[in-house]
Amino acid sequence: MNRKQFIASLSIGALSAPSLLSVNSKDKVKVALPSTESWEQIQKQFKVLKNHIYMNNGTMGITPKPVLKALEEAFDTVALNGAYPSDTKLLKNRLATLVKVEPSTIAITKNVTEGINIACWGQNLKEGDEVLMTKHEHVGGCAAWLYRARIHGIKIRTFELGKTAEETFSNFKKAISPKTKVVAVPHIPCTIGQILPVKEICAEARRQTITSIIDGAHPLGMIQFSIEDIDCDYYAGCLHKWLLAPLGLGFVYIRKDKLESTNLFNVGAYSLPIFDMTAENLIAENLVQETQRYSTGTFCGPLYEAGERAIDWYEAIGPERIEKRVKELSLFTQEELEKLNNNIEILSPKEERSRGAQTAFRFRNKKADEFVAFARTAKGSFTLRHVHEAKLEGVRISTHYYNDFAQIEKLIECVKEYIKKYESPHLYH
Ligand SMILES: Cc1ncc(COP(=O)(O)O)c(C=O)c1O
Repeated sequence: MNRKQFIASLSIGALSAPSLLSVNSKDKVKVALPSTESWEQIQKQFKVLKNHIYMNNGTMGITPKPVLKALEEAFDTVALNGAYPSDTKLLKNRLATLVKVEPSTIAITKNVTEGINIACWGQNLKEGDEVLMTKHEHVGGCAAWLYRARIHGIKIRTFELGKTAEETFSNFKKAISPKTKVVAVPHIPCTIGQILPVKEICAEARRQTITSIIDGAHPLGMIQFSIEDIDCDYYAGCLHKWLLAPLGLGFVYIRKDKLESTNLFNVGAYSLPIFDMTAENLIAENLVQETQRYSTGTFCGPLYEAGERAIDWYEAIGPERIEKRVKELSLFTQEELEKLNNNIEILSPKEERSRGAQTAFRFRNKKADEFVAFARTAKGSFTLRHVHEAKLEGVRISTHYYNDFAQIEKLIECVKEYIKKYESPHLYH
C-alpha cells in the first residue's frame, strides 16, 4: 500500500481525533498517526510548555508524543526480551526511500557532525589543497575542516552567499581555483535558512573533478529532495531537526564510486564481513562493500525504531503538505517583518526557490542576543536563535508545522515592543 492509499484507508474526517493506527514493524512498537487532521489537532500531539512558544526547530525538533511513546515502548521491549539490537536495515531502508538513494549507500550516524567527519577525514588531501566553503557554516559543518587545516595544512577558502541562487552559484564558480579539491557547503545554512543551489554546485564541481560534500542538517523533513538528483559525492543529514525524531539520529551518504577511495578510521563489527583472530595472517582481509562500513559497534536500537516511527508520522501527514505549511509560515513571518523595516533588516532571501522554513533578521541598532533574551522573558516566552555565525548578529525564527500564524503574530508584537522600548529613533545618539 502506498502512502496515499494508506491514508485513504483510514477514512476519517478532517475534524476527527487523531486516528490510532497500529504500524507494526516486526510487531514491535505502535504509533498513533495523524492523517487528515487539522494542524490544530496535530499541534496537540506535541508536548510544549504552556505559555511558551518554541521557534527554534532549526536547532532541535520537538518529537510528537506518539513517537516518544514508541521510543519508551521500544526500550521496554529490549529490556523485557533481552533483545540485542542488530538490524540497522529497517531504518536505513526507510531513510533511503525518503532521500531517494540505494540503502547500501547510507549509514546511520548519531548526528550531522559525525557524517561530516566521515566525509572530511575520508579525503586524501595534501598541504595546500583547497576546500571551498561558505562563511555561513555551522560549527558542526566546519570544525573538522578547520582542524585539518591546522594539522595537514589544507587551505579553507570561503565564498559569499548571494541574494539569489544564481548569484550564489556565480560566487561559487568565481571562487574555484586550480587548487580546489573539495567543495563542502550546507544545503540550507543554519544562519539565514536559504536553500542553496546544491545541484548546480555539485554538477560544476563534478565537471572540474572537485569532490562535493553537502551538509544536509536541515532539509530532511522540511523540503522534499533527492540526493540522487543533487548528485553530490557525500551528504550528511539528521533526523532530529525537521523530521522530528528523538535526538541522536543522523545519516551519511557516500556515492558508490567514492566508497573505495574514502578512508576509514573507525572500524568495527559493521565494517568487516569476517574476522578471525586465530588465523595465521592477522589482517582485515575485506571491508563491507557498503557505506555501512562507517558504522561501528552497538547502536541504540530503540532510537532507530523511534526514527522509523518518526518517518511513519511524517509520511502520514504528507511531505508535500508539510513543505507547503512550513513555507507559508515563513513567508508570513517575512512579510510581517518587512513592515518593520525602518528598524530591522531581513537577512533571508525572498526568492521563491531559495526560501525554506526559516527567517532571519537583525536590528539596525541593537544586538541580536539581547533581543533573544528579551523574547524569552517577554509575554509569549519565545525560544529563538541568536545567529552569531558570519558575524551576522541576527535572530533566526525557525517555525515548524506545529507552530501557527497566531504565534507568529505574537512574536511580531514582541519585536514591536522591543523596538518601542530600545530602538526608537530618539534613543539613537
Ligand atoms: C547547518 C548545520 N550543520 C551542522 C549542524 C550540526 O548538527 P548535529 O548537531 O546534528 O551534528 C547543524 C546544527 O544545528 C546545522 O544547522
